[in-house]
Amino acid sequence: MAAVMPAPATFRIAPSILSADFARLGEEVAAVEAAGADLLHFDVMDNHYVPNLSIGPLVCASLRPRTGLQIDVHLMVKPVDRIIPEFAKAGANIISFHPEASEHVDRTLALIRECGCKAGLAFNPATPLSHLEHTLDKLDLVLLMSVNPGFGGQQFIASVLPKIAEVRKKINASGRDVWLEVDGGVKIDNIAEIAKAGADTFVAGSAVFGSKDYAATLREMRARLAVV
Ligand code: DX5
Ligand code: ZN
Repeated sequence: MAAVMPAPATFRIAPSILSADFARLGEEVAAVEAAGADLLHFDVMDNHYVPNLSIGPLVCASLRPRTGLQIDVHLMVKPVDRIIPEFAKAGANIISFHPEASEHVDRTLALIRECGCKAGLAFNPATPLSHLEHTLDKLDLVLLMSVNPGFGGQQFIASVLPKIAEVRKKINASGRDVWLEVDGGVKIDNIAEIAKAGADTFVAGSAVFGSKDYAATLREMRARLAVV
């Protein structure tokens, strides 16, 4: 069990549309927004950096006029730089990438900001936090994967809990407003424990889109967060 960190003031829930019904994507996005989502998590997979293929800028651009939510783009692609301006043009608000997928992490972070988006760095379960050493002052978001990237519906890897606590300490020490997003296997039953470890932003794909009542699921997640 990870150390209990001071609870951040705000919690955000970001449903991942990877688990939505793609035949009705616009309706699914509207439904999850009406149900009280805070952000829209947009998983981009390239069948190269990860063994799956999902959605690109065209889908982002199609959804942009259909939602007032911030679009939180999680790039699981290699290379990353070429696609960043495309996502910015398509209406992305936040763009995160994996350091292993960029030859020049600092340059990629600068590119995201030049494009007018918030910048995030994504860590796989086995990616060391040393990548934060020279980047934290340039980040708006740290995305910690709690499954190996590539698929929705996987089991939360509990050994990520102490890593969340470690990142929370680094963010608090920086004094900057950096969001700490946890992605993978987040459910009603573990969201409080993940928040206690220090996360403030929660990606939930199958837990939301796999449920019958999105509003009830989000309400229950918030109820669990309220007592953290
Ligand atoms: C995995 C993706 C996640 C995933 C989350 O590569 O980054 O966002 O879709 O899905 P669940 O919540 O089902 O684990
Ligand atoms: Zn993701």
